[in-house]
Amino acid sequence: MKKWKIALLGLGTVGSGVVTILQTHGERIRKQSGAELEVVGALVRNPAKPRKVQIGRDVLTTDIQTIWEREPDIVIDVMGGLDPTLGYIEEAISRKCHVVSANKEMLAAYGPHLHRLADEQNVSLLYEASVGGGIPILNALSQLLHANRITHVYGILNGTTNYILTKMEEENLAYEEVLARAQELGFAEADPTADVEGYDAFNKIRIIGHLCFGGKTQPLASEREGIISVTSEEIELYGKLGYRVKLLAVAERQGNSYSLRVGPTLVPHSHQLAGVKDEYNAVFVTGDIVGDLLFTGKGAGALPTGSAVVEDVLQVVSGRTFALEQEEVGTQTVVHEEAEASG
Ligand code: NAP
Ligand code: HSE
Repeated sequence: MKKWKIALLGLGTVGSGVVTILQTHGERIRKQSGAELEVVGALVRNPAKPRKVQIGRDVLTTDIQTIWEREPDIVIDVMGGLDPTLGYIEEAISRKCHVVSANKEMLAAYGPHLHRLADEQNVSLLYEASVGGGIPILNALSQLLHANRITHVYGILNGTTNYILTKMEEENLAYEEVLARAQELGFAEADPTADVEGYDAFNKIRIIGHLCFGGKTQPLASEREGIISVTSEEIELYGKLGYRVKLLAVAERQGNSYSLRVGPTLVPHSHQLAGVKDEYNAVFVTGDIVGDLLFTGKGAGALPTGSAVVEDVLQVVSGRTFALEQEEVGTQTVVHEEAEASG
């Protein structure tokens, strides 16, 4: 049985979720993949901090050189941010490590650049966990909808704001109180302004935009607004009028290009998105052949996000990975599928 050495960059909410899954589902993973996954290192800021998982102290390190010395086959980025993370990921790729990442901020800004590096080194770069938590939306878009020309993708892509809006409406709680709860539950970003000001949802719809409409094309237009100006009084009033306030993210094909927008939106109670509550996300995808598809599930939290990370790792070890980047061909978008013989 082939052994795969895994290095985690980060052991917070998502990193702990990944380790928990490897521990609770180790036997199943071995059987399904025919591979043994071993965590050889976990980069953290503070090794003395209490962790949510049991892990040997010798696995933890604050030094990236120690990670490289352990010669990982797969580097999992569950650390977040751009600096120093981007440099570490570039280094991982240059060392021919496969990369699995949950870092939407990095992928939204540097996805096409990292894909080029990964292609040059013939390694995988997968990031299902960066969009929609546990929902396999990127895999669906890149692997299962090749013949379809995607025209629209829209939905709820941020769990923290959906949780806040749900609790403000249903439990009449104050914004600050619910935000603090979302942080405790591990849904919010390290800096929660990314959630409440719409940057996180924007990063996710940008990744979807790269995927559906081509990483080399810039959107024609983009707009971003968060939920900080939405008051409890407004939520109550719109509720009486038959609407729920939801933070929607929309990517729309426009000729050879596309537009992106994120903002608070009134959704009629009769619409499926109105029933999507708490940290759940939901994404409608419209393809020219298939019509509307709806993907929904938990969009944040340790286990749903850890699930997406582990499934990406299993794609790498199974040797069946797909380049997520697409290429513009006139007004068509083509997905490059690459079955790699990894390992
Ligand atoms: P988190 O709980 O804050 O964990 C971050 C981890 O990274 C911590 O273990 C931290 O070390 C480590 N770290 C941060 N900066 C570091 C540095 N400069 N050097 C070494 N270690 C460093 O964050 P998270 O919620 O797990 O999120 C991680 C990533 O997943 C982010 O990109 C986030 O956007 C993404 N994501 C999160 C969720 C979610 O539901 N939370 C869902 C999808 C995607 P210490 O523990 O020592 O502080
Ligand atoms: N902060 C993000 C959210 C985590 O609330 O959706 C999942 O990407």
